[in-house]
Amino acid sequence: MAKLKIVLILLAVYIAYQYYDSFDPEEVRGKSVVITGASTGIGEQLAYHYSQLGAKVLITARREHVLQKVVAKCKELGAQDAHYIPLDMGKLEDTKRLIDAAKTKLGGIDHLILNHITNNYMALWKGDMEKLQRVMDINFRAYVSLATYATPMLNESNGRIAVVSSFAGKVATPFAALYSASKFALDGFFSALRQEFVMQNMDISVTLCIIGSIDTPNALEYSKTVYSGDLFYTTSADTASRIMKGATLREREVYFPWTMTRPTVMVRDLLPSVLEWMIKSSMKEDAVEKGRQ
Ligand SMILES: *[C@@H]1O[C@H](CO)[C@@H](O)[C@H](O)[C@H]1NC(C)=O
Repeated sequence: MAKLKIVLILLAVYIAYQYYDSFDPEEVRGKSVVITGASTGIGEQLAYHYSQLGAKVLITARREHVLQKVVAKCKELGAQDAHYIPLDMGKLEDTKRLIDAAKTKLGGIDHLILNHITNNYMALWKGDMEKLQRVMDINFRAYVSLATYATPMLNESNGRIAVVSSFAGKVATPFAALYSASKFALDGFFSALRQEFVMQNMDISVTLCIIGSIDTPNALEYSKTVYSGDLFYTTSADTASRIMKGATLREREVYFPWTMTRPTVMVRDLLPSVLEWMIKSSMKEDAVEKGRQ
């Protein structure tokens, strides 16, 4: 009986802790923030959230005309400073260009938000090795490169890195093997880097964000090929807000929406066959056929 009580109390404390909100918006004012993949979706919303709180932002993506509009809105919303630079995260030299621009335009980096991905669609793995290269270059290698170039500035500012990952970065997801692999790779690298920073007395936090399904046009398109019915959609605005808080509070990992992502990852460890059954049940009858195309 006493044991049950302890378990229940611990569970209550854990759940309360998940909802405890000690975020102070003043922490963000005047901070220099670099955001990748910021022309749309979560990245765009992150730019707006940081701007509303008076941060200085430097955003990148490939499409200049879209970045222009996002930066204009950032200024309207109250950014202390807002810049864009059109770059391709598939090119290593562009990752260096972004960090150099942060130095010249913002004078340093407080928050480095790694968010971009290459276009995604759901398909069976059919052995396309060039696609493997491309996905790993953009979704993984660029993240490592950006964090590496930014480390001296982040060390100076006692800064923060947020890595936007996915549910698929904790739970292997069929029809998204490459995407899933690139997100697992981010977990491996950045969870090691977090410890290496501590060992070198560098006060740089790493926040890995495990994001569930979001209602962006890309995500909807992505999942409707093989999934039946509605997943637990949330908005990119709410997701961005949660990521900004997590980075600011130096949380190790952010699960959002918590109720969709966290329990599923627990099931992965305890009952993997049940999880696989759940994934299969959520798919369309003709998922394999559709995924072949
Ligand atoms: C990190 O910054 C501290 C000062 O805040 C400095 O003493 C230390 O040498 C820096 N570490 C590295 C690896 O640059």
